[in-house]
Amino acid sequence: MRTIIEPFRIKSVEPIHFTTREQRDRILRDAHFNPFQIAARDVLIDLLTDSGTSAMSSSQWAGIMLGDESYAGSSSFFRFEEAVKDITGLPLVIPTHQGRAAEKIIFSILGGQGKYFLSNTLFDTTRANIEFSGAEGIDLVCEEGKHPGVPAPFKGNMDTVALRREIERIGAENIPMVIMTITNNSGGGQPVSMENIRTTRNICTEFGIPLFIDACRFAENAWFIKCREEGYAEKSVPEIAREMFSHSDGCTMSAKKDAFANIGGFLAMHDPELALRCRNLLIITEGFPTYGGLAGRDLEAIAIGLYEVMDENYLRYRIRTTEYLTTKLIDAGVPVMQPAGGHAVYLDAAAFLPQIPVDEYPGQALVCELYLEGGIRSVEIGSLMFGKYDLNGKLIPARLELVRLAIPRRVYTQSHIDYVSEVIIEVFRKKEGIKGLHITEEAPMLRHFTARLEPKDNS
Ligand code: F0G
Repeated sequence: MRTIIEPFRIKSVEPIHFTTREQRDRILRDAHFNPFQIAARDVLIDLLTDSGTSAMSSSQWAGIMLGDESYAGSSSFFRFEEAVKDITGLPLVIPTHQGRAAEKIIFSILGGQGKYFLSNTLFDTTRANIEFSGAEGIDLVCEEGKHPGVPAPFKGNMDTVALRREIERIGAENIPMVIMTITNNSGGGQPVSMENIRTTRNICTEFGIPLFIDACRFAENAWFIKCREEGYAEKSVPEIAREMFSHSDGCTMSAKKDAFANIGGFLAMHDPELALRCRNLLIITEGFPTYGGLAGRDLEAIAIGLYEVMDENYLRYRIRTTEYLTTKLIDAGVPVMQPAGGHAVYLDAAAFLPQIPVDEYPGQALVCELYLEGGIRSVEIGSLMFGKYDLNGKLIPARLELVRLAIPRRVYTQSHIDYVSEVIIEVFRKKEGIKGLHITEEAPMLRHFTARLEPKDNS
């Protein structure tokens, strides 16, 4: 059969809330044109993030009831540890309450002034934790990854020529770690090939630098390798995952993505000395090493989710969802990042709304319009999120003006996705009438969460 169906049936449902256009118009004004400030019950389809928003399976919920809440040595920890070791081959496993907690620990230990962390693309919390330690992060995504409209199979890859050049320029002694983000979230949810991981590994080995994987979406990346890379079609997803991790010295993971958990994360590694230092810091910040900021029940849910996510029927459906939405949008002429990413569809707001200059935030204007038109919540990944000011107060824009529609795992059905495409296409039809925004209030860091904006013509 050609139709790829949701590989589950629904046992428990949660109502979503409908609003009228008039209500949404008022809600948007009350939220100061910033959908982070909209209450979730006023959103019909919430595509703000795929993080912590997954639907857990009946097995995971059953696991929740089995959670062993002992402070030390809980049996849930041992099940969790066994699952991570089995899937990654990394022997030392440290639970944390989410991905950024794992980042905080590792970069507090390895970071500091004068240090550099090189990556295909660092996610914003990863970069923030690196910079908070006093170190610097450098993104080295491949050339194909810089052009949203041009399709290529592995646009998340590291530019390995640039990697070698940067290591030689900075000096290996100043680079505590290279980080490979799979899939490359800030680069559009695009995958990294096994060949690229291997080449990166070889360069790291040559210079004696450890390679860590930011493994949030490891299963989605493994599926792309299976479908797109020569020599992997016959390999199973667990085999591919194991091979990806075999090229690394360790990983950080947010279990809120490819473990279907609503909270959780971990660090895993080979180096016992580093693990000891991480555990010492963990005890101060997260908790005892056998729970690390999580309840025993969360550890159970993660252990089960890590296996469920590697199911091929699930991954086929998962990746088909973003591809299905992207194809519908391309057919209607909507400018989108190509090919579809793993966990999200990215609209190219600069091409969608060419009449809006970057300092009037075309991405945010589009985010607001999608909410107004159909109650869809998305997120701007452009100059509101990443823009900085020069000394004269002029905006230094982001490299791209994107709008991300992240798809929560196992939550929405095909008709929800059809609805989303209909709303986007309708907004595209009316694009000439859409106006820019200007900021009336903003915080000095991570301003996109709390910024207040106003339509341009109100000023
Ligand atoms: N690394 C990547 C690649 C991520 O996408 C995220 C989170 C993190 C690390 C941090 O993990 O949220 O558990 O602390 N990404 C979410 C998103 C927030 O919406 O893309 P966390």
